[in-house]
Amino acid sequence: MRVLVLGGAGFIGLHLVRRLAADGHSVTVVDDFSRGRDDADLAVVCADPAVEVVTGDLTRAATWAALPRGWDQIYLLAAVVGVRNVEADPARVVRINTTVALHLMDWITPTDQVFFSSTSEVYAGAVDAGVAAVPTGEDVPAMVADVTAPRFAYATSKLLGEAAVLHGARAVGARAVVGRFHNVYGPRMGADHVVPEMSLRAIRGEDPFRVPGADQYRAFCHVDDAVEAMIRLMATGQAAGEIVHIGNDAEQTNIADLAKLVLRVAGAHASLRPEPAPAGSVHRRCPDLGKLRRLTGYQPRVALEDGVSQTFAWYRDHHAG
Ligand SMILES: NC(=O)c1ccc[n+]([C@@H]2O[C@H](COP(=O)([O-])OP(=O)(O)OC[C@H]3O[C@@H](n4cnc5c(N)ncnc54)[C@H](O)[C@@H]3O)[C@@H](O)[C@H]2O)c1
Repeated sequence: MRVLVLGGAGFIGLHLVRRLAADGHSVTVVDDFSRGRDDADLAVVCADPAVEVVTGDLTRAATWAALPRGWDQIYLLAAVVGVRNVEADPARVVRINTTVALHLMDWITPTDQVFFSSTSEVYAGAVDAGVAAVPTGEDVPAMVADVTAPRFAYATSKLLGEAAVLHGARAVGARAVVGRFHNVYGPRMGADHVVPEMSLRAIRGEDPFRVPGADQYRAFCHVDDAVEAMIRLMATGQAAGEIVHIGNDAEQTNIADLAKLVLRVAGAHASLRPEPAPAGSVHRRCPDLGKLRRLTGYQPRVALEDGVSQTFAWYRDHHAG
């Protein structure tokens, strides 16, 4: 297959590209390197002649106009993500995420098959308001508690993206599926996410060890499992037109236990210092994966301890010193 991965130099994107290339597909990455890195990991993936990288800003019509047509699969991952970005510049998050999705909407042709990356944040307001149960399925109302709060700029942009891509594809008879990621983690994901952030503090020997939101619960999904789910959804005709939750429901953990796991993996001995959770983050998050399982037979494979060990080792090797 010829596969186009938009935002493919980023965290999930590069893991997806590596897997697609290993499966024998030819892959073209488009990325503006605003967050994705032109680093050693990218160089290893690009050493495969089946992988091509194009530098381009997907908010610009000219980038889309220059893209070849006739892809077997198109994955849209390009977005501005992360609480820090959202708090610092919510207008940028809204502008980039929606503009990229709207360009894709206008660019889709009837023979295309598209994956759009969305997020559990689109329904987080419904969990907070008590109208959505946890584990959470796709049938709960998407809900933004406060449009004026910077934090919700990301959820708002992704909700618009879901509608744009699903309706845009349907309008021309193309196939599109929306995957809502739930706390995906793994090597090369930047330093802001809780697993790398804790890993780096453990490497520095922080003691007492700060644990913001110690009593919150999350279900972390290793990026290899997330990639497997994406690939299976794109291979499943019945997934077209659907919104599907992607994550790992096998092991929920509270953040204090995650901190203990990171410290154990690091071989560090520190006392935990619980701190308040970041403002606006949900108390508990876990996807109901019934729909993903019914459609694709997916089962999460990477145990939390294994995934955290592998992620910790990557950060130790790349960031220590
Ligand atoms: N990691 C998670 O747990 C998670 C959770 C929910 C949703 N998602 C979604 O999955 C997707 C991938 O997330 P990620 O964690 O890999 O993020 P990431 O920031 O690592 O990857 C996004 C990539 O998009 C690129 N990009 C941004 N703006 C661009 C533009 N205008 N033109 C071209 N490229 C651009 C960035 O340089 C980066 O390489 C995003 O759409 C995100 O919203 C991720």
